[in-house]
Amino acid sequence: KMVSFIDKLMSQMTLEEKIGQLNLPSEGDIITGLAKNSNIAEKIKKGQVGGMFNIKGADKIREIQRIAVEQSRMKIPMLFGMDVIHGYETVFPIPLGIACTWDMNAIEESARIAASEASADGISWTFSPMVDIARDPRWGRVSEGSGEDPYLGGQIAKAMVRGYQGKGNSFSANTNILACVKHFALYGAGEAGRDYNTVDMSRIRMYNEYLYPYQAAVEAGVGSLMASFNVVDNVPAHGNKWLLTDVLRKQWKFDGFTVADYGGVSEMVNHGVGDMQSVSAQALNAGLDMDMVSEGFLSTLKKSLEEGKVSIDQINTACRRVLEAKYKLGLFANPYKYCDLSRAKKDIYTQANRAVARKTASESFVLLKNEGNLLPLAKKQTIAVIGPLANTRSNMVGTWSVAAKLDVPATVVEGLKSVGGKDASILYAKGCNLTSDPVLEANSTLFGRSLNRDNRTEEELREEAMKIAAQSDVIVAAMGESSEMSGESSSRTDIGIPDVQKRLLKELLKTGKPVVLVLFAGRPMTLVWEHENIPAIINVWFGGSEAAYAIGDVLFGNVNPGGKLVSTFPRNVAQIPLFYNHLNTGRPAADKGFEKFRSNYMDEKNASLYPFGYGLSYTQFTYSDIKLSSATMNGTGEITASVTVTNSGKRDGAEVVQLYIRDLVGSISRPVKELKGFEKIQLKAGESKTVSFKITPELLKFYNSDLEHVFEPGEFDLMIGGNSQDVKTTKFTLQ
Ligand code: IFM
Repeated sequence: KMVSFIDKLMSQMTLEEKIGQLNLPSEGDIITGLAKNSNIAEKIKKGQVGGMFNIKGADKIREIQRIAVEQSRMKIPMLFGMDVIHGYETVFPIPLGIACTWDMNAIEESARIAASEASADGISWTFSPMVDIARDPRWGRVSEGSGEDPYLGGQIAKAMVRGYQGKGNSFSANTNILACVKHFALYGAGEAGRDYNTVDMSRIRMYNEYLYPYQAAVEAGVGSLMASFNVVDNVPAHGNKWLLTDVLRKQWKFDGFTVADYGGVSEMVNHGVGDMQSVSAQALNAGLDMDMVSEGFLSTLKKSLEEGKVSIDQINTACRRVLEAKYKLGLFANPYKYCDLSRAKKDIYTQANRAVARKTASESFVLLKNEGNLLPLAKKQTIAVIGPLANTRSNMVGTWSVAAKLDVPATVVEGLKSVGGKDASILYAKGCNLTSDPVLEANSTLFGRSLNRDNRTEEELREEAMKIAAQSDVIVAAMGESSEMSGESSSRTDIGIPDVQKRLLKELLKTGKPVVLVLFAGRPMTLVWEHENIPAIINVWFGGSEAAYAIGDVLFGNVNPGGKLVSTFPRNVAQIPLFYNHLNTGRPAADKGFEKFRSNYMDEKNASLYPFGYGLSYTQFTYSDIKLSSATMNGTGEITASVTVTNSGKRDGAEVVQLYIRDLVGSISRPVKELKGFEKIQLKAGESKTVSFKITPELLKFYNSDLEHVFEPGEFDLMIGGNSQDVKTTKFTLQ
């Protein structure tokens, strides 16, 4: 039915109208690149626009859709996209944070709620999930992805696609929207952690370590895919036929449409591969279907067709893919399917959605240190809340929250007051600015996320803080990064807490009062000094619109934190890239300190500060030895590995039980360990549960030198534990 409908439609379309479907301008309100589009309404009337993005408001979108379906010749409805990355008005933790829940149901639910709110406000398409594996915390966009592990990243990609697109990808309900996996490919591997920078990677690394999350999204039926800004094999991804056609279409059988990133087609000119005319043809020929903002397709494809540089088949194919997406969404049946103004009034930022976001935020926090069980805090005491992040609303939601209302979220001070109730006496002082460098601070507080830089001197601000610290029983330091210190183009070479905040922390510690660091972070940070000196550290990322209440819930112990890191925290920025699933090398580091002629540093350990999978709880978990159903398995069989996990502490809590495998001898060198499974369990104080993992030959597959996906017989280490370092180990043999 869809094919014949689109056949008929396309038979009536002019070449210009077909090319028009491939054009995706933005309104120009939110500009992330160098271009801005103009005269959009006129273009819509001429059939030169396939969709628009980052426009907020069902009424506004309805009006634009009306122009398309009433005033253009073919009356083709438009797609309305948005960066609904971690929620709409109900904002969930940044993706790096929500990944730390390791809770696929919660992640799917967050995407479902985001889709429900966005669709109530006119949006039919989200530019999410962002699944780029990132091993470089200098890169600001680590905040938008799910960390460093391909297996976990793949599971999260699938959960998010399910959440956005709904069961069976049928889009039957008007609460399901089209997802867009991005950025294809390898965007997270830019050299030196600088955004948009060159990527250079072997095929074997791509296939074994970087490509799986995109493929997982494709397997889950994601409807669209966005190209990345970087080059792959020196060819810009936007014009890379190997990526967009050979891998994506031929190997993975992707049947959705591909879209450029913002200005990605025109940026091919800067990459030095041609002028606008030729790069637009190259992009279409490579397999790019829709051009975001550049208007390269719109302005050049007709001429390229006349010159034989592109074929009509290619234009038809791209146009068909865009129309198919519109058809599947049900926009031809009802162009206003996502513009139900009554839904916009009642389905957004609801109490129910906010309650889910609050719970999810509290599950995303990672307790990094808790000496002497300083946390949770008793409510009945005086708490001095100090720091540049203690009294901000706009910085609670984190980067890329286009639809968020920035003046709505509660501040940390308000969150603690609300959860602490009348028993808690909460005092507040800012203590210091975000950084001592006003220019860095200005760049770190863009897009309405000002921290109201205080003009008093560092000493004056500190003095005020020391006064309330002196009156308190405990100090809560709300410090770290501002929301815009991570995210797109916010790369940093120093990934520590800014010095001015550290200086204040040192003074606060001198009071002798217990200090809890509530760390705001959009990336793994370097925290060696903090770890050595501050008794309790909890990483709250950017927890979203309900973060402040969630912080209250966790600090006061209503919720026991159970988040586990999805990215290694290095000790020193110079260790980067540092990741748990590395190769062994021919000269692995010795266990004890530096040794000459080994792969190690003279002045720093190889080890991380906090490893992948790490996170504490207010209770403790103990692991039994691993039981295997058999120590051998053949190429068609399977074995089961089980451990019994006991909550040996005094509080109920959640634990993420993690399975790692090492292929000890292979035809190529294999990682020292790889995550192959996990299960999040809830255990009451004193309770034990047995967790079992099925090991199949499929799980042991990797890409060999010929890029064949194979398993090889031999011996394997099997490890289970609560993080990637503290594990029980056994062995099995694949015959
Ligand atoms: O979706 C984003 C992308 O992740 C980065 N550049 C802009 C796009 C659209 O806003």
